[in-house]
Amino acid sequence: MITIRPATEDDADAIARIYSIGIAERTATFDTDPRTAADILPKIADAARYPQVVAVTPDGAVVGWAGTSGYRPRACYAGIAEFSIYIDPVARGQGIGKPLLNGLIEAAAAAGFWKILSRIFTFNAPSRALCAACGFREVGIYENHGKLDGRWLDVVIVERLLPQNLT
Ligand SMILES: CC(C)(COP(=O)(O)OP(=O)(O)OC[C@H]1O[C@@H](n2cnc3c(N)ncnc32)[C@H](O)[C@@H]1OP(=O)(O)O)[C@@H](O)C(=O)NCCC(=O)NCCS
Repeated sequence: MITIRPATEDDADAIARIYSIGIAERTATFDTDPRTAADILPKIADAARYPQVVAVTPDGAVVGWAGTSGYRPRACYAGIAEFSIYIDPVARGQGIGKPLLNGLIEAAAAAGFWKILSRIFTFNAPSRALCAACGFREVGIYENHGKLDGRWLDVVIVERLLPQNLT
């Protein structure tokens, strides 16, 4: 049984490890620099504003992380958050991503956001499937949105409204 809970400082090493594996795989982000716990700790410190959650096995191992971050600095967009989600490769395809992303959606709604969104490489089928399963809408495709290892890549924008905050 997997538990979804808010991330704590003690999770920073595990989150950095899982995130860095995802970065090295070159299928989820334009970022290429691995992360350390020092990169993760400020996110956890700011989690009341931008929630961070982890998936934990019964023996206490962190096998996934999902987190929000700021979308744009303009005040009119203050209720929109971007999100990222990374599962340890050994734990993928076992139904962990879905409760983890749903846990992040709940936390983002509780924090007052009215929308969360992300951009996914068009070839990232698992991520597109996960987002569809969690109620995201594919808004459209940005063509040649950036270069990764010298190759132009398209991204699909996904958004999910949090209706309880659309008041
Ligand atoms: C994307 C990712 C988070 C999915 O997590 P996961 O734990 O493997 O996903 P789940 O097992 O909970 O599956 C969620 C849904 O996606 C589907 N799915 C999962 N892997 C899939 C695959 N390889 N191909 C097609 N669909 C897939 C599942 O069938 C499920 O849909 P359903 O509920 O309608 O049956 C995980 O693959 C990952 O960490 N990938 C690398 C990092 C990444 O791409 N992050 C997203 C960046 S935007």
